[in-house]
Amino acid sequence: MKIIVIGGTGLIGSKLVALLNQRGHEAVAASPNSGVNTLTGEGLAGALAGADIVVDVANSPSFADQDVMDFFTTSGRNLLAAAAAADVKHHVALSVVGTDRLADSGYFRGKIAQEKLIRESGLPYTIVHSTQFFEFLGGIAASAADGDTIRLSPAYVQAISSDDVAQAMADYTLGAPQNGVVEIGGPERVRLSDLVQHYLTFKNDPRKVVADVHARYFGAELQENTLVPGDDARLGAIKVDAWLQAQAAR
Ligand SMILES: NC(=O)c1ccc[n+]([C@@H]2O[C@H](COP(=O)([O-])OP(=O)(O)OC[C@H]3O[C@@H](n4cnc5c(N)ncnc54)[C@H](OP(=O)(O)O)[C@@H]3O)[C@@H](O)[C@H]2O)c1
Repeated sequence: MKIIVIGGTGLIGSKLVALLNQRGHEAVAASPNSGVNTLTGEGLAGALAGADIVVDVANSPSFADQDVMDFFTTSGRNLLAAAAAADVKHHVALSVVGTDRLADSGYFRGKIAQEKLIRESGLPYTIVHSTQFFEFLGGIAASAADGDTIRLSPAYVQAISSDDVAQAMADYTLGAPQNGVVEIGGPERVRLSDLVQHYLTFKNDPRKVVADVHARYFGAELQENTLVPGDDARLGAIKVDAWLQAQAAR
């Protein structure tokens, strides 16, 4: 099958393109780097011509509230219209576990809008909700840093490696459209503040994490289980310590 991966040069996209090609499909990465821009529509119709499946793993280059909203709504409309015109049989998108519980966050309001456009598009679709990637822990620390102090919620998380995300995305991409949301998460449930402290300590980063139940996660206060997937979630195999060791060995 011909599969177009929007954002196929990114962290998840590049691994997904490789996996789908290994499985014998014709997977093509599409992004501004290859002349396909979902924001402007440039190159979209040509890229999607003859495609059976479209996977959207693009992300907004700016996390400012209005930029994120503009990115996911404009890109979503352009992409879904092009997918419908190309008679695509499955539209797959990657979003975040708990998105619907995070409307106080500008980033997540953008993801909510993106998901709504997909649900209302009339296209057969699967929305994959993933928990936080291990690769994003440094970004979470940076987002909550004030000098040497990082103030984070002690809410639970179940972070996952990007390799496990890509494997799950490949399976859902090649499976039947779910016309709904499926969830994936990591194998261990720990507190966000503890996980980021563990990450920093491993990296010999001297900054300290302070647990604060009112600390906002990209603008939203978290309840204990806001970021945790449900009981039916598919769980990745790679634990954080194995991932940290593998990173350090590179
Ligand atoms: N980070 C997490 O913990 C987490 C957790 C769950 C879900 N997610 C979701 O996972 C998705 C992918 O994240 P990621 O970390 O793999 O992203 P990433 O590495 O930042 O890659 C972003 C991709 O989007 C592409 N892109 C940017 N602007 C574009 C445009 N105008 N048109 C088409 N493509 C564009 C980029 O292309 P260029 O290379 O050409 O710039 C790049 O390929 C996001 O939707 C995010 O919400 C993330």
